[in-house]
Amino acid sequence: MPPATPDAPPRPGHPAPDGPGLSELLDFAHRTAADPDTLALLPLDPAERTWIALEGPGGSEAWIIGWPPGAETGWHDHGGSRGAFVTATGRLAEQSIAVELPTEGWRTLELVDGVDRERDLPAGRGRAFGPRHVHQVVNASQEEHAVSVHVYHPPLPLLRRYSRHGRVLRLELVEGPEEWAP
Ligand SMILES: [Fe+2]
Repeated sequence: MPPATPDAPPRPGHPAPDGPGLSELLDFAHRTAADPDTLALLPLDPAERTWIALEGPGGSEAWIIGWPPGAETGWHDHGGSRGAFVTATGRLAEQSIAVELPTEGWRTLELVDGVDRERDLPAGRGRAFGPRHVHQVVNASQEEHAVSVHVYHPPLPLLRRYSRHGRVLRLELVEGPEEWAP
């Protein structure tokens, strides 16, 4: 029988085995959103969302996203990843559901009253969210572009898209990274 191999001691500065926590993700999003040189890398399109990938902290995945007036994501989750995002310029609104939903095993779900939340996120504001977060994000402005920074850990394995009719949420589509990678 081979001798047991001792576990390697953790290296200084090495991320914890399960990666960066919500505060670290949110801090990265805030710092990047306040960095004009990094934001300037993003091309803007007057009619379409644009995005570029960044390397996030501790093996996470990050994006800068440009939102023309009226752009929105539709309802979605993040495939079990946690994350954070911060508005860098302009203003975004987030609609979210204040209960943790199972990430799989259902096709339609009827929400109870009182679980809808809305956040106004002007430049410099953001939020972190856990692995079961379901939301949609919109640039409700009719004139102003918005730019935001998003970070996810683990890197998004997939994204589930939902339709919403009143209180009923219905799974419509599961997207893999090949659908959004540039
Ligand atoms: Fe999202």
